Amino acid sequence: MYRMDCVKVNTLPSGHIDCNDFKAKLLSNKDKPAIVNVNIGTTVKGAVDDLDLVIKKLEEAGFSHDRFYIHCDGALFGLMLPFVKHAPKLSFKKPIGSVSVSGHKFVGCPMPCGVVITRLEHVNMLSRNVEYLASRDAKIMGSRNGHAALFLWYTLNRKGYSGFRKDVQKCLRNAHYLKDRLVEVGIGAMLNDLSSTVVFERPHDEDFVRKWQLACQGNIAHVVVMPSVTITKLDDFVEELVQNRALWFREGKSQPRCIASDVGINNCFCALHR
Ligand SMILES: Cc1ncc(COP(=O)(O)O)c(C=O)c1O
Repeated sequence: MYRMDCVKVNTLPSGHIDCNDFKAKLLSNKDKPAIVNVNIGTTVKGAVDDLDLVIKKLEEAGFSHDRFYIHCDGALFGLMLPFVKHAPKLSFKKPIGSVSVSGHKFVGCPMPCGVVITRLEHVNMLSRNVEYLASRDAKIMGSRNGHAALFLWYTLNRKGYSGFRKDVQKCLRNAHYLKDRLVEVGIGAMLNDLSSTVVFERPHDEDFVRKWQLACQGNIAHVVVMPSVTITKLDDFVEELVQNRALWFREGKSQPRCIASDVGINNCFCALHR
């Protein structure tokens, strides 16, 4: 949208930003200021980047605070992180510029919506007076869905702090359960710390993928364990996956996929890495 130059930074098999590559890229672009996207839960692997380490790398590379801007993309996990024990804190006491969360993911609003929190200086810089509204506006399109704000407000108030904490704990517990069950039956799987996204080999049958609405990328699929996902549903899923794998791999017709390059050798149970 802004037609800015963009530099891709490598990631680790876990999905986290590779901070050594990040520093190298910073050093080779020292003439320009840096706008950095830090992920608070990546889409596919649920990796929560280490914000403090990112800031440290920027400082080590000689970027003073007025020469970088950090956006924290917390689309899914931004609203879960505050309720995870021992999780690092996202805070405007740190040199970040903005944090965003989606309203239709963990909160479950029935329409796409989200919240961006930024510093007042940026809001003031971007907003303009709208005479006929008798207010200032800082949105790209100058408009928003007012109902979305009501839905967010309603859910936050109905569940409250303790309701959110309970939901987050349930998701993390169930995600561990799913990961352990998959490993138990011999299916390579990965679950990042601070995440409820379980990654495993892409099923061999697209009908199975469609039936369970699995999101796939290359050789891997993932399940995002949300509050609506019960242990019974997870058991049904694993059982059906095991039965189907027996058919797919019957008489050596095909083999479990190698997912070592996606999730690391330790999490891959293919014939070579089992
Ligand atoms: C990391 C991340 N950022 C952004 C998005 C998009 O968020 P939204 O649907 O609120 O635009 C997603 C998922 O859809 C995501 O996983």
